[in-house]
Amino acid sequence: MKKALITGITGQDGAYLAQFLIEKGYAVYGLQARRSTDSLWRLQFLEINDEINLIEGDVTDMSSLIRALKISDADEVYNLAAQSFVGSSWDQPVLTAQVTGVGVTNILEAIRLVNPEAKFYQASTSEMFGYIQKSKQDELTPFYPRSPYGVAKLYGHWITVNYRESFKIHASSGILFNHESPLRGIEFVTRKVTDAVARIKQGKQTELRLGNIDAKRDWGFAGDYVEAMWLMLQQDQPDDYVIATGQTTTVRDMCQIAFNCVGLNYEDYIVIDSKYYRPAEVDILLGDPSKAKKNLEWEAKTSLKELMSMMVEADIKRVAYESKRT
Ligand code: NAP
Ligand code: GDD
Repeated sequence: MKKALITGITGQDGAYLAQFLIEKGYAVYGLQARRSTDSLWRLQFLEINDEINLIEGDVTDMSSLIRALKISDADEVYNLAAQSFVGSSWDQPVLTAQVTGVGVTNILEAIRLVNPEAKFYQASTSEMFGYIQKSKQDELTPFYPRSPYGVAKLYGHWITVNYRESFKIHASSGILFNHESPLRGIEFVTRKVTDAVARIKQGKQTELRLGNIDAKRDWGFAGDYVEAMWLMLQQDQPDDYVIATGQTTTVRDMCQIAFNCVGLNYEDYIVIDSKYYRPAEVDILLGDPSKAKKNLEWEAKTSLKELMSMMVEADIKRVAYESKRT
């Protein structure tokens, strides 16, 4: 039986990846950071919490990573842990650098010391393209990050490349464009919108305050994207891959799609609030996933309309359930 260790298992992607690997017959181990409140709701939502071996640890504490690698004896290590919210990275730039950036070196060092044969996946991001240097971004497009998060991720990306070249570690970097789901954190714009749609529809909210709704993103479904992570580690050679849909949409049009799901006009509810503008913005992201299609035979399966409809439906159920309880 193959063994996988996932850092960030309590996050959106960690939960879907764990489910995917369990279905493939893997023994799944997950690094769980100590929190004062319950962080297992996503694993419970997917009903896989009892099938995961949780190991307490933190990517800023290399000793805990060494311990996790020894306990799990992992064949594959997926590093998904991060302070992943771009907005917060201006408020906590040092923490973001330590967790999202140096955390990657900690885990690569732990692999080097405990099991250099383990295959490694790094969760890189389209946010590294930032101020885009090419209209459609691929693996060769120069990077220009626009947030402390993007800068930290760029460090994580290059240290992954460096350990691959220096120590022959099977280390791959997935440059994933935005991907969403009903398990997305509420602070990210798609989930903020679908939650608001559900609340407005059920009379619990009257308006939705947003920032720059002219920003454009290439949005896919997280459930599709975790397969690409796994596929990268099944290749003979490690490499970097852009994972995206190849379509870009404004936040405004995404809102329209989400409100349409319940027959409402988004223009009646959205209020622009400068509080949600960022010190520097990534205006547009659009990925070219041709290499992943050719080498991994991977492509996105879920359209933005299907994704929004899935998220709105889940939030409607959630809001109705919460209303019954209160
Ligand atoms: P997420 O929901 O924010 O999950 C982040 C995970 O990291 C959580 O499990 C969190 O634990 C954990 N974590 C945070 N600080 C940690 C620490 N110091 N030590 C150990 N674990 C820690 O993010 P996601 O959307 O699943 O994304 C997964 C990864 O892909 C992240 O690295 C993200 O930056 C990257 N990425 C995401 C996207 C996207 O669109 N979703 C696109 C490109 C790249 P708690 O829940 O306990 O805080
Ligand atoms: N969160 C948020 N809240 N974003 C808003 C809002 C708002 O009220 N109003 C407008 N936006 C705009 C942001 O300014 C940004 O241009 C866009 O919506 C998307 O914001 P997020 O959903 O927060 O995602 P992100 O693109 O900044 O970052 C996500 O994708 C990256 C991949 O490109 C995160 O998942 C990162 O971790 C990931 O690396």
